[in-house]
Amino acid sequence: TTGGSEVEKRNAGERAAELVADGAVVGLGTGSTTAHAIRALGRRVEDGFEVQGIPTSYQSADLAREVGIPLTTLDDAAPAIAIDGADRIAGFELIKGGGAAHTREKLVASAAARLVIVADPSKECETLDRPVPLEVLPAARRPVSEVVEGLGSTPDLRLAERKDGPVVTDNGNLVLDCDFGRIEEPADLAQKLASIPGVLEHGLFVGLADTVLIGTETGVEERER
Ligand code: A5P
Repeated sequence: TTGGSEVEKRNAGERAAELVADGAVVGLGTGSTTAHAIRALGRRVEDGFEVQGIPTSYQSADLAREVGIPLTTLDDAAPAIAIDGADRIAGFELIKGGGAAHTREKLVASAAARLVIVADPSKECETLDRPVPLEVLPAARRPVSEVVEGLGSTPDLRLAERKDGPVVTDNGNLVLDCDFGRIEEPADLAQKLASIPGVLEHGLFVGLADTVLIGTETGVEERER
């Protein structure tokens, strides 16, 4: 949760909810912008609309239950559409994982026929330039750090805010935030990070987003790949 205003986030989120067809299975991303989409979907369900949600985190599952969206899993259904936020957006390439949920987010996004990204304008940039989160097996922390240092980054163990110690993901793992400066070749870096043993998933999303919705104070800017 950073940057933009609640109105910007809501305008993006509510537009995304309109893109979901009656009867669809929908991937439910994580974060404050997607939360607006989930709430809007819940209102449509109240009006008799039928959807099933596949959550990407405790947060999105709990919110979906709260607003009355029935849940399913990737074992039982494939999403026609997934809605999710992002921490940085350059064109259609993303950095995600600010909420430490990027492993399941990428799983659901990859299974979905269409990935719709919702964000406020503060997320947009020319070149991806923020640390890339890696979800890492606890036992792999040191060897992964060494490989990442060899790639020119300084890995930073993400610490919890309301606990003494590290963030532990929904899957029981650690998060290393890895600063690579400006990422000129995201596809190249993505491949390198994906090949490190002990890395469950990295937060670079390359070639996955189909639609980007940037909420503004007055509406929403839509980009289609
Ligand atoms: C979760 O791990 C992230 O990928 C989120 O999707 C991202 O942090 C977006 O959150 P906001 O919409 O709250 O900025």
